[in-house]
Amino acid sequence: MGKSKKCLKGTCIYLFALLLLLFLLVFVIIPVVFMFSVEIQRNIIFPVWSTEDANFSDIESFHLKGVRNFYVTVDDKENVTLGAWQILPSKLLSNVVDNHYYNYEEILANKNYSILLYLHGNGGVRSVPLELYAILRKYFQVIAIDYRGYGDSTKAELTEENIVRDIVNFYKWLRGKTQARIFFWGHSLGTGVSTHTISNLKVQNHVPSGLVLETPFSSVPDVMEEHFFVKFLSWLPWYRQTMLDPVVKNGFGFESTKYVVDVDCPIMILHAKDDTIVSYQSATKLYETAVKNRNFTTQGNVTFHLFDESRGYDHMLIYLAPELPTYISEFIDECIKFEQTLNQTQV
Ligand SMILES: *[C@@H]1O[C@H](CO)[C@@H](O)[C@H](O)[C@H]1NC(C)=O
Ligand SMILES: *[C@@H]1O[C@H](CO)[C@@H](O)[C@H](O)[C@H]1NC(C)=O
Ligand SMILES: *[C@@H]1O[C@H](CO)[C@@H](O)[C@H](O)[C@H]1NC(C)=O
Ligand SMILES: *[C@@H]1O[C@H](CO)[C@@H](O)[C@H](O)[C@H]1NC(C)=O
Ligand SMILES: *[C@@H]1O[C@H](CO)[C@@H](O)[C@H](O)[C@H]1NC(C)=O
Ligand SMILES: *[C@@H]1O[C@H](CO)[C@@H](O)[C@H](O)[C@H]1NC(C)=O
Repeated sequence: MGKSKKCLKGTCIYLFALLLLLFLLVFVIIPVVFMFSVEIQRNIIFPVWSTEDANFSDIESFHLKGVRNFYVTVDDKENVTLGAWQILPSKLLSNVVDNHYYNYEEILANKNYSILLYLHGNGGVRSVPLELYAILRKYFQVIAIDYRGYGDSTKAELTEENIVRDIVNFYKWLRGKTQARIFFWGHSLGTGVSTHTISNLKVQNHVPSGLVLETPFSSVPDVMEEHFFVKFLSWLPWYRQTMLDPVVKNGFGFESTKYVVDVDCPIMILHAKDDTIVSYQSATKLYETAVKNRNFTTQGNVTFHLFDESRGYDHMLIYLAPELPTYISEFIDECIKFEQTLNQTQV
């Protein structure tokens, strides 16, 4: 009797110690380690380690036609070169006999073929959204880029500022090549990149023709706050200082609500109600910020297409929407109409 009681007491102490350790680990050690580890934050925001490896110049292995693989040096100081694909408009495909022998430069320079700059999400590379490209190339010639660190682009330090500077320089390179309209299409993290890029381009007097945000978010801290583990810690007094603030401080904040105000072209937002990665509430917050703080007469309208959960599009499958082609062509019409009104007010 006395022996078993002693054992029980021992077990209690062990159990208590274990619980205390677990508590410390989950509620103190993990947040504090997260707070001080820029590399952990970087690897969560930019999970390059999880992206697929491919030979991007082997166009045939992707069963593609009329696509060119090329590279642009966007940062001479850091020697950063981005890998990109030029995906010809589908109406030109009948002219392509061999992917490697076609005058891609001539099409790039042709004002008649509007360009869509496609910026993928944090888990993607330019060879992933092939089904979407098949739709987009009916309306545009698509230029899909890999950020530094992604695909076969130069492995260089990944931060929001660095990525945005690269894309700003890529845009200016493109602008130097062609007078065609240039649209932006961002998916997921790419919506943060494109919105911030357009804001920075504005300062340099560059304005694109339109911006499509597929499954956008309001900011990275907002998305983190929706994650079950972060929610689980959200009662801690040190939660903001350890989990959210460092992400912004270290240059991973992607606060699109801040940058969307500077977007001087029409915006189209696409989101699914059943999105499990970025909630549609986060997209709604961005939409409402844009509507409230932008002047639609001088900066263009914002259109929000929200797909019902019954469709099952989640975060990756919006390209399946039968309405998508209509939404795209309506959006292009809207952008051209906006351009006309701008032209008239300038006269
Ligand atoms: C990638 O594909 C290109 C074109 O097919 C080929 O010339 C090259 O050798 C390939 N590179 C590798 C590393 O396999
Ligand atoms: C830039 O990088 C390329 C390939 O990664 C290399 O061949 C070249 O020597 C580098 N240039 C400079 C100035 O470092
Ligand atoms: C663009 O299209 C117009 C009208 O179809 C045509 O006249 C013009 O030659 C085209 N421009 C180029 C560079 O192909
Ligand atoms: C938007 O801009 C137009 C033209 O400058 C101006 O007349 C209008 O009052 C502005 N609207 C708002 C809500 O500020
Ligand atoms: C913007 O939206 C308003 C209201 O729906 C509409 O009247 C206007 O034509 C739209 N502007 C453009 C450029 O399509
Ligand atoms: C607006 O003006 C520019 C510059 O003159 C011209 O190239 C463009 O075609 C015009 N856009 C529309 C829609 O009329």
